[in-house]
Amino acid sequence: MEGEKKCPPLFVEGEKIDMSELVTIQPDFTRAQTARSRRSQSGNGPAVYIRTYGCQMNVSDTQTIETLLADDGYQFVDAPEHADIVLVNTCMIRETAEVRALGQLANLSALKKKNPHLVIGIIGCIAQAKRKEILEEQPYIDLVVGPDAYRKLPVLLEERLISPPGTPGLLETTLLREELYDEIVPHHQGGITAFVTVIRGCDKFCTFCVVPRTRGRERSRPLPSILREVESLVSQGVKDVTLLGQNVDSYRWEDRDFAECLKAVAQVDGLKRVRFMTSHPADISERLLDVMGTVDKICPFLHLPVQSGSNRVLDLMNRPYTRERYLGIVKTAREKVPGIALSTDVIVGFPTESDDEFQMTLDLVQEVGYDSAFMFKYSARPLTKAERLRDDIPEILKAERLGRLIELQQENSHRQNEAQLGKQTSILIEGISPKDAAMWTGRTPDFRPVVVSRNGESIGDEIPVQLRELIGFTFRGERINR
Ligand code: SAH
Ligand code: SF4
Ligand code: F3S
Repeated sequence: MEGEKKCPPLFVEGEKIDMSELVTIQPDFTRAQTARSRRSQSGNGPAVYIRTYGCQMNVSDTQTIETLLADDGYQFVDAPEHADIVLVNTCMIRETAEVRALGQLANLSALKKKNPHLVIGIIGCIAQAKRKEILEEQPYIDLVVGPDAYRKLPVLLEERLISPPGTPGLLETTLLREELYDEIVPHHQGGITAFVTVIRGCDKFCTFCVVPRTRGRERSRPLPSILREVESLVSQGVKDVTLLGQNVDSYRWEDRDFAECLKAVAQVDGLKRVRFMTSHPADISERLLDVMGTVDKICPFLHLPVQSGSNRVLDLMNRPYTRERYLGIVKTAREKVPGIALSTDVIVGFPTESDDEFQMTLDLVQEVGYDSAFMFKYSARPLTKAERLRDDIPEILKAERLGRLIELQQENSHRQNEAQLGKQTSILIEGISPKDAAMWTGRTPDFRPVVVSRNGESIGDEIPVQLRELIGFTFRGERINR
């Protein structure tokens, strides 16, 4: 077997990463405060456009920033051309994500040529990981702010607005172990669904992943403040919340674990559904699966990234479980939460992954029979341990493996969906179908999209349906009486 061949040393000696180097350029706070109070008296704040890339954590952070800036009198516009300030909230999880965000910044540099007073800020994960490098390489950028420094945005922005064009950019990327933005209720955009961050950062240090470097150490929010946020959302019409974190199942506040957090959220009056993501297989507890199986409002849906089906590759990735342990969790989850839908993340082409090891991933994906999956080609990321490995799987082979995996998963998704036809379930109505105004669109508890004829119901109603037909990956349902 190729996987058993003797391999050269895997982690070559590389440059030591020194994360203690935290560069902060302080703005002139007094000057900015004075300008700020002058402006808030006039009641007409600058116009901000925020473009968000990346995961739901970034989406949720953008909402926190919107609250912070709205409290300070800023206004929001829907195009960079109408803005005084453009903020790009960035992701660098894979090379493609980074290229996309940097491409958007390049477009903005053209806008700044036309309007030299435009303030351009890069925030989020690229800002954190690349810091000074960004200001050196893209001198038109005014502001670089990391995910733990958003409280300073109002003052930093004010300082830039009163600085003449050409002033060197400001940098604030201190990672704060205690920053949870706890009392700031993220701006809710309307609608019946919302995200609520329960834990920030990540301590897992998977060797391929940049997140621990961009978001710092893991910290959980106090349960009472999570509950206050959920109650506030419910009072604004939210019926379905997703609890967020890179690793929700390592949540711990005082003596409460994630199972208790989830249970407490489910007890909020007026809330109809609770879901969560992402879970790490090493932290999944039987208690969590018990709670999922017994509390009605908790949706039977588990996103459980496996990454690889080979124990050797999992070990290289610093994922502390084996394929056997993972399959054991899946079995327990199916016993304790009947009808549970499963999804996953998979990486193909991790350094040294052999054909046989890739086959083990295909076999595992087939054995589990996921309802859905996010599948990626490995790309080396700065500041990660795997960056020091030779990225030895040729691009063409990565693409071929990804293609085979996607094909298998599409067949599985289709088969799982077909098995649902005829099932009686319920949907929570989220809105009018964009394709047909005579239909509602909503989701089943296990997250399958369904359209159903409108018949006097309202958005936010939960209605019993039978799944009748599949149109691509969406079901057509029919309202039933139960
Ligand atoms: N916290 C989550 C994952 C967050 S990142 C977890 O632990 O599961 C989302 C997914 O991006 C990861 O699960 C992984 O599959 C993928 N990913 C992360 N780094 C990557 C890299 N360097 N190359 C390719 N995919 C990567
Ligand atoms: Fe990244 Fe691993 Fe943390 Fe997920 S658990 S965010 S993959 S380091
Ligand atoms: Fe991307 Fe940062 Fe999220 S790197 S995936 S935006 S935590």
